[in-house]
Amino acid sequence: MTTFSIPEKVANKELKRWAQEIFELCAPDDVYWCDGSEEEYDRLCAEMVESGTFIKLNSELRPNSFLARSHPSDVARVEDRTYICSRTKSDAGPTNNWMDPREMKGILKPRFEGSMKGRTMYVIPFCMGPIGSPISQYGVQITDSPYVVVNMRLMTRMGDTALAAMADKEFVHCLHSVGMPLSEGQEDVKWPCSPDPKDKYIVHFPEETLIWSYGSGYGGNALLGKKCLALRIASNLGREQGWLAEHMLIVGVKSPDGRKDYVCAAFPSACGKTNFAMLIPPKPFQAEGWEVTTVGDDIAWIKPDAHGKLHAINPEAGFFGVAPGTNYETNPNAMESIKENAIFTNVALTDEGDVWWEGMSDAPDHLIDWHGNDWTPSSETPASHPNARFTAPITQCPAVDEDFENPKGVPISAFVFGGRRNSVVPLIQQSFNWAFGVYMAATMGSEMTAAAFGNIGEVRRDPFAMLPFAGYHMGEYFGHWLDIGRNIPEPPRIFSVNWFRKGEEGEFLWPGFGENMRILQWIVERARGRSKGFETPLGWMPRYEDMDWRGLEDFSREDYEKVMSIDRDMWIKEIALHDDLFFKLYDRLPKEMTFIRELLLSNLWRSPEMGLAAPRPDASEDLPRIKATAE
Ligand code: OXD
Ligand code: MN
Repeated sequence: MTTFSIPEKVANKELKRWAQEIFELCAPDDVYWCDGSEEEYDRLCAEMVESGTFIKLNSELRPNSFLARSHPSDVARVEDRTYICSRTKSDAGPTNNWMDPREMKGILKPRFEGSMKGRTMYVIPFCMGPIGSPISQYGVQITDSPYVVVNMRLMTRMGDTALAAMADKEFVHCLHSVGMPLSEGQEDVKWPCSPDPKDKYIVHFPEETLIWSYGSGYGGNALLGKKCLALRIASNLGREQGWLAEHMLIVGVKSPDGRKDYVCAAFPSACGKTNFAMLIPPKPFQAEGWEVTTVGDDIAWIKPDAHGKLHAINPEAGFFGVAPGTNYETNPNAMESIKENAIFTNVALTDEGDVWWEGMSDAPDHLIDWHGNDWTPSSETPASHPNARFTAPITQCPAVDEDFENPKGVPISAFVFGGRRNSVVPLIQQSFNWAFGVYMAATMGSEMTAAAFGNIGEVRRDPFAMLPFAGYHMGEYFGHWLDIGRNIPEPPRIFSVNWFRKGEEGEFLWPGFGENMRILQWIVERARGRSKGFETPLGWMPRYEDMDWRGLEDFSREDYEKVMSIDRDMWIKEIALHDDLFFKLYDRLPKEMTFIRELLLSNLWRSPEMGLAAPRPDASEDLPRIKATAE
């Protein structure tokens, strides 16, 4: 029988107690305290190559990199199995699954009992954010998955340094088991997990800052520092302590005069967030000295400093990005970041021992697909899973920001919110003020079906891109955002963007990718009080003349007016639809939401002409009026 021992380096009394409790509950064959060293990483990877969980890729083509193939039942986050077990149901709110914490523990305790039999229990101390930053948080994950250990080394600051810095401080308790104990002599499988989709549980106990995850070894279900700690638990901590935990990328934007501003941007999953986080400015902008740098691609923790200026850190240390669609044209910086020292999950394997996925390049004549089967371009199924991922350290990104490790974080000048709307929502607009910005972010969404012109289709509201990640009542979350703005002297400006507006033929109206720099330029200049705009019923918008079109000469004024137009009837319908969300959140909805809705409606009724067709000049600047088409 294995005996439990604690290395001398462990000072944290609560960690000693908790590790022993989990050891007794899960009954592993062995216990290993992770130190975070390269030697440990190499050894665990080699062990996984030996066991068949990892395939080592060709060292010349993809040095020090590995491919894992998951069980087909274990390929993505499982939102229907994710719970916020706060003390009361109303604290979790109607957008989260909830169960009484005692009842949930009653279900999960028997599952964890003996769940690590035949396996090693790994104890992973980690820090989310730069070690020593006043914005960072400590966590410890106990897991029976070596795949999790090596991914956590890329995604967090993990091991002895975090353990020493943690000393006797508080930490988030993260318990994880793949849910497949091995009986005496039973042979292991390459990707252990609980194959029954109903037997996976991703559970948060916010009052105890405790996470229990059972049955899945994949991504956000298993790398508990990411969505579970850095968003669901951290959003609760932020609410109590006066800061924000957001599903946002962070970029630095430097203009030719050397001034740099940082922007946080929220987009729902699969809306090009990684591309925006690593944006490369078009050639004329580069030649002039515009630069975009990456602080983070998925999560931002944002806190007011002593003067009330919001500063953000990226709590993560790596990228866990969606591979399909990534290529040297859409995202050269991501491709450079994964050239070596990367882990790939559920992508295809080439005959040369490298990786391939849909959208990377022309398909090779032969591949081994993510199931491990032969694949050719005539195969009917994709070679890589649509949610196949790469894991790589952020420091490998050629555009990583110089202040990525700065414990103070980076000062934030603007927030950007972007949904995925085929119609209705214009390319870019600036909210009148913080509260209007909160309203726009609260009502953002994605059209799930192709909307015919004149019909706004089925919109899935995804407030702040936080629908699956806000760890408490969404109405209160809006209230927390309003509070933050109220309590700081100069809240950052808030913008909304929509890259996905379509024309009557279903064609995208905005060329996207690198061209988004033009929008980012207007945003930062606007936040600096330098770029021009005009007032519309919804907020401030740039005229065609207010944007820099160098290098995109074939995008005409008419094209611009289409992508920026505001249709009154559609907007009135849109605002009526906001009520679906507001009624759902009614018990804790801040009253500002209702009043702003009324103000927007009255603005829309008042304006006879919408959008660029009838701009009103910026009151603060004497600008020439552009000709209204109606005139
Ligand atoms: C992610 C997501 O994996 O948002 O980042 O789903
Ligand atoms: Mn995400």
